[in-house]
Amino acid sequence: MLVLGIESSCDETGVALVRAEGQAVPQLLSHALHSQIAMHQAYGGVVPELASRDHIRRVLPLTTQVLAEAGQTLGDIDVVSYTRGPGLAGALLVGSGVACALGAALGRPVLGLHHLEGHLLSPFLSADPPEFPFVALLVSGGHTQLMRVTGVGQYSILGETIDDAAGEAFDKSAKMLGLGYPGGPALAKLAEQGDGAAFKLPRPLLHSHNLDFSFAGLKTAVMTQAQKLGDQLDARRADLAASTQAAIVEVLLKKSMAALKETGLRRLVVAGGVGANHMLRSQLNAACAKAGVRVHYPELHLCTDNGAMIAMAGAMRLQAGLQEASFDYAFDVKPRWPLDALASGS
Ligand code: KG4
Ligand code: ZN
Repeated sequence: MLVLGIESSCDETGVALVRAEGQAVPQLLSHALHSQIAMHQAYGGVVPELASRDHIRRVLPLTTQVLAEAGQTLGDIDVVSYTRGPGLAGALLVGSGVACALGAALGRPVLGLHHLEGHLLSPFLSADPPEFPFVALLVSGGHTQLMRVTGVGQYSILGETIDDAAGEAFDKSAKMLGLGYPGGPALAKLAEQGDGAAFKLPRPLLHSHNLDFSFAGLKTAVMTQAQKLGDQLDARRADLAASTQAAIVEVLLKKSMAALKETGLRRLVVAGGVGANHMLRSQLNAACAKAGVRVHYPELHLCTDNGAMIAMAGAMRLQAGLQEASFDYAFDVKPRWPLDALASGS
């Protein structure tokens, strides 16, 4: 079974092909990505209308590219999977529209998927795929959640952010430090030259005795500190970046370890854009090694949005018999769509 995956929920157009045989872990044949970062950089963030228009320009050439790279033709595709939500409505409409048009033209069924399920299952694209059950730490630009994952489609939320997401905390703090968009990677890079203990920043909800997160207060503390520094901000920018990163990473680390303890599970999967963060990875690796927990990540280049995770999630849902791909090409998108709604089928 050859599955085409199309991702267009935000500022990356991703297309990929995976092959699924029986119940074996599906294999990635090819994937291609166009990042809109350069286009949005001038505005300091994603401009939704520009994003939609660029997805329109990119999605078919990328599809041609992945087919050529895999030595396949349009007629070889068995199922077209696409991101149905959550994300920017206009951007989602492009990928969904193209996916359903392709399905209709080829006479092949389509499958609308949850973007976060794509992130969650992206470690299965790595050379060392995880096994169920596991605790998942999903840390992206829009979401921060700890989940108990017992199988494909079986996700229960253990804790989540009550305000900003971890990626948002990176991005907003980066903006206050005068760094460009997207802020996460820029802040992490600057932090390498700084001292993470230089400024005492809050670790929100660290001792809350639950698995929820809050990052809005941290952002305010970074702003207050930046204002206090005034003229000296330039000289202390790397220290403030390092202290911000240290605060975010400490909270993510401690809550992940608490979730493992609470569930008794001995496997952790980290997914989403912030999962690319080196400090987070090295601290989680050390803590998990000490606790006898195996930790899995997607490959670095598949941490942020991509088509491979959407093709993979489509293939895995079909293998699990959770839903059938549909020959109904009337589509809608779900800009807001909680992941745990999947379990109830809504
Ligand atoms: O998963 P993703 O590509 O998009 C969403 O679904 O939101 O995540 C993007 C987020 C952004 O907030 C970005 O700043 C953050 O991931 N990010 C990072 C790093 N790479 C990406 N944050 C910290 N360190 C990184 N190396
Ligand atoms: Zn994402």
